[in-house]
Amino acid sequence: MSEAAVEFKQVSKNYGAGFVLENFNLTVPKERIVTIIGPSGCGKTTILKMINRLIEPEAGQILLEGSNIGELNPVELRRNIGYVIQQIGLFPHMTIEENISVVPRLKGEPKQQLKERTEELLSLVGLEPEAYRKRYPHELSGGQQQRIGVARALAANPSIVLMDEPFSALDPISRIQLQKELIKLNEHVKKTIVFVTHDIDEALKIADLIVLLKDGKVVQSGTPEELLNEPANDFVREFIGQERFKPLVPQHTVANMLAHHLSIYSHFKVADALQYVEQHELDALAVTCEQNKYLGIIGREQLQGEQASSSERPINEVMKTDAPYVRGDAPVSQLFELLKKNRIVPVVDASHQLLGAVTQSSFIEAIGKQFNREEVLA
Ligand SMILES: Nc1ncnc2c1ncn2[C@@H]1O[C@H](COP(=O)(O)OP(=O)(O)O)[C@@H](O)[C@H]1O
Ligand SMILES: [Mg+2]
Repeated sequence: MSEAAVEFKQVSKNYGAGFVLENFNLTVPKERIVTIIGPSGCGKTTILKMINRLIEPEAGQILLEGSNIGELNPVELRRNIGYVIQQIGLFPHMTIEENISVVPRLKGEPKQQLKERTEELLSLVGLEPEAYRKRYPHELSGGQQQRIGVARALAANPSIVLMDEPFSALDPISRIQLQKELIKLNEHVKKTIVFVTHDIDEALKIADLIVLLKDGKVVQSGTPEELLNEPANDFVREFIGQERFKPLVPQHTVANMLAHHLSIYSHFKVADALQYVEQHELDALAVTCEQNKYLGIIGREQLQGEQASSSERPINEVMKTDAPYVRGDAPVSQLFELLKKNRIVPVVDASHQLLGAVTQSSFIEAIGKQFNREEVLA
């Protein structure tokens, strides 16, 4: 469709002691949150500062919306790129309002417009404008100051915002709050955000696209799901954290997936069983003798069919005795296979006592508890 927001083409940087980046290529798509992540010293800050020309490459080209930034006026360029760093560095003698509007003021925007814009930005970063615009930085908490930093970076309405570990110095609660706000904010304002972090939890949470670096090279880039589902190599696996790759299904035992109220004694009549399944909205029941030995299953539809002619017959005369069942210590994968074709799978112990039954919905519920992304990433 349109060109990329930022493109690195064969970019090399050498501080003197060898290459930090060598023939580095990167494409940052527009209006997405792209996180650049990697161990300390891998070149993240260098990449970011090259985009606003705080650092110049020795070779290669960097394109900003198609223009070679080497040919743009660096001061002008920086005014059109938002920049947020860890120690936000608000001007202590200026009010919050003045801090936010520094760049638009330099650009000569009219006063009324500045005021309106500041109010809008304060609301956008979750601070009540009237309560905050006249305050000074030292009257704000660290988290609030970082919010002002984000507002200031957006003030000149740049299409791209660079953020270098902007939330790293914050307490965990402010940090999580700001991460959430950033995601929300970008749904409203649609900026390209290049976000540097060394924290994989943060990257997984906020990124549309993750670029994982090692020694100045891209090891893998992709969506958080792609990195989680198809890690390119052991470095990615290790960086993301082994525990996230534990196969989720085998952590469950068949025993903790059992649904309740799914069995009935074999001497009960068809009419009783039908009433029971309808009352509990069940698809099927496991049938046992009075000593709880598993005998077979009976389905709701079958019960409805038998009702007319044989409502007084005991279930053991009409139940299915050849339906599949599993042992409680069976691998969950076996259960999974059976559930593809059976609505209910009875679970028994070594002496054929019924332990319970698993349905498609009790299975999904048990798995869902663990797969829930919020829980995995919280
Ligand atoms: N001004 C500099 N002079 C010399 N070496 C530098 C300079 N800035 C960064 N480096 C080196 O370049 C490498 C990458 O640094 P940097 O981009 O800051 O990494 P990161 O942000 O990933 O921690 C590191 O080895 C660092 O020591
Ligand atoms: Mg850095």
